Amino acid sequence: MAVNVLFVCLGNICRSPTAHGLFQHHVQQAGLDQHIVVDSAGTGGWHIGHPPDSRAQSTALQQGYDISHLQARVVTCDDFEKFDYILGMDNENVANLLDLKPHNYTGTVGLFLEVAGIKIDEKIKNLEVPDPYYGDQTYFENAIQLIDNGAIGLLSRIQNENQF
Ligand code: 4NP
Repeated sequence: MAVNVLFVCLGNICRSPTAHGLFQHHVQQAGLDQHIVVDSAGTGGWHIGHPPDSRAQSTALQQGYDISHLQARVVTCDDFEKFDYILGMDNENVANLLDLKPHNYTGTVGLFLEVAGIKIDEKIKNLEVPDPYYGDQTYFENAIQLIDNGAIGLLSRIQNENQF
């Protein structure tokens, strides 16, 4: 049985598609594509069908990840039937997911970096991935760095919890 992972942010054009692309890459590198299914979605529907924001695409490409093929969609109640991990980028995303969550859901809804085992320290003061949409390039670079660390941590957690 595959482990299904859904990354969620507000618009599904900046943070969650970046997490989708980077985590998918790490899953492929580990030879686990058959075992771990990855997707992303937004809590808001303004950008349905759009590719990732051009700044998110170029920041990802600079680090060697092509996320241009991804398309934004909205998270729905049906996602709770498929996904074992539904991970928000910030606390507002998680609050919106908890509002949608059916009572009988047995998977994990939580803050991506927290579930990924990232610890608060001098450099990382809280476990949210801040929304870069209204920010400059440094916001996108900060986001991708946090997301890459989170992707590595999450993969290691899922590998530890499963016998693939
Ligand atoms: P994301 O960023 O949630 O990381 O995809 C945003 C994208 C679009 C908007 C807000 C945040 N927006 O308001 O359209």
